[in-house]
Amino acid sequence: SETAVRRERFAGGPAREFLSSMAFDDRLFAADLAVDRAHVVMLAEQGIVAGDDASAILAALDDVADAGFEALPDGEDVHEAIETAVIDHVGPEGGRMHTARSRNDEVATCLRYEYRETLLDALETTIAAREALCEVAEAERETVMPGYTHLQPAQPTTVAHWALSYEAALARDTERLLAAYARTNRSPLGGAAFAGTPFEIDRERTAELLGFDAVLDNSMDAVSARDFLVEGTAAFAGLATTLSGLAEDLVVYANKDLVELDDDYASTSSIMPQKKNPDTLELVRSTAGDAYGGLQGLLTTLKGLPRAYNRDLQNASPHAWRVADDVIEATDVAAGAVATAEWPAETLEAAAGEGFSTATGVADLLAMCGLPFRTAHEIVAEASQYGADYEALDRACEDVLGEEIAAYADREAITAALDPVESVASRDSAGGPAPDAAAESLAAALDGCATDTD
Ligand code: ARG
Repeated sequence: SETAVRRERFAGGPAREFLSSMAFDDRLFAADLAVDRAHVVMLAEQGIVAGDDASAILAALDDVADAGFEALPDGEDVHEAIETAVIDHVGPEGGRMHTARSRNDEVATCLRYEYRETLLDALETTIAAREALCEVAEAERETVMPGYTHLQPAQPTTVAHWALSYEAALARDTERLLAAYARTNRSPLGGAAFAGTPFEIDRERTAELLGFDAVLDNSMDAVSARDFLVEGTAAFAGLATTLSGLAEDLVVYANKDLVELDDDYASTSSIMPQKKNPDTLELVRSTAGDAYGGLQGLLTTLKGLPRAYNRDLQNASPHAWRVADDVIEATDVAAGAVATAEWPAETLEAAAGEGFSTATGVADLLAMCGLPFRTAHEIVAEASQYGADYEALDRACEDVLGEEIAAYADREAITAALDPVESVASRDSAGGPAPDAAAESLAAALDGCATDTD
């Protein structure tokens, strides 16, 4: 046939493999079958293709689906290969499947159909990670631990407060994935090559059959747009950034014996027999780098492309798949590491008091007793040269104000402020680490997980 002749002539010659997307099109196999089915049903409903031809094509598509991607005939891409298989089954009438469409709107629709699933996987995995963090927060609500700024001991906090800090970040990553989902879930089908079609197609109908929320109206935009991949990949890059911080915290805490990672999330050394290394979390940490590289690759591929379809677009989507797959896997692994880690309460509490970490609480107490905060700060700073106890504070107060500290605050209150557990309990402002405040944050976090699951 004429088609066969042209396909032979433009098969790519020695550049065949370079031209073909078959190496990564298995990702679009199920999507293309769904898009073909919806299109054929619409063509039949509109009277563009006869009912018996449509039935024969749909039956052939079932056979192609059963045989699987690997059984497809040769083709430049999955779209061409499936069409060839349909024509092999049905005969020339099978060629009616490609009426009123192009591979340009076809591939754009397949990408959105498949990316939607990928984003749903990501959402499910991210919410599961948030739930794992909530479980840690529940179990370790009163487990005091050191909190750091600049990686220096700063103020005592709790494991729950730490866990909920990452839950909150992941909740925003969830919002970004949901926003990407909303803009992905629109149908380009019916845009044809870019310039529409004279056939009386029903774009709303194919959108509905494929479960899209809306139609991308402008047919030139519909086939050209890949910003949904940019938005989704950026959301993945943000998620990977959150995970890299969480992984780094666990690596640092494991280094200080503040957390015991489960053996399933650790590795050993081929030479040093005593080693238990946090390799798995280091790989989670590194995933952010891959994600940024992928986002950069995607943006650079898209930059400056003219309207409408250009074959560069074929190389855009693999960046998005790779980033999504890597980040989803890293999210799942990070959640597992969090869920199985042990938090040694005694070690954590002892470490929580190190480095005069309660100093801020003592200054707060003196300020609550009436001293200007800056004066209180000066006394405690002075005291830190002498030690981290009542006597040191008393001496510093003499230095700064020429009076005993008892003139400003009673000994019992100061002793309490110096205790890491009391220090945490006192910081009960909204979103703070005091167990009661954390209980409220936890309840809100669990509500958020439930809402996002719906
Ligand atoms: N495999 C191609 C892609 O992923 C399909 C579109 C080919 N269209 C074209 N006009 N050459 O973009």
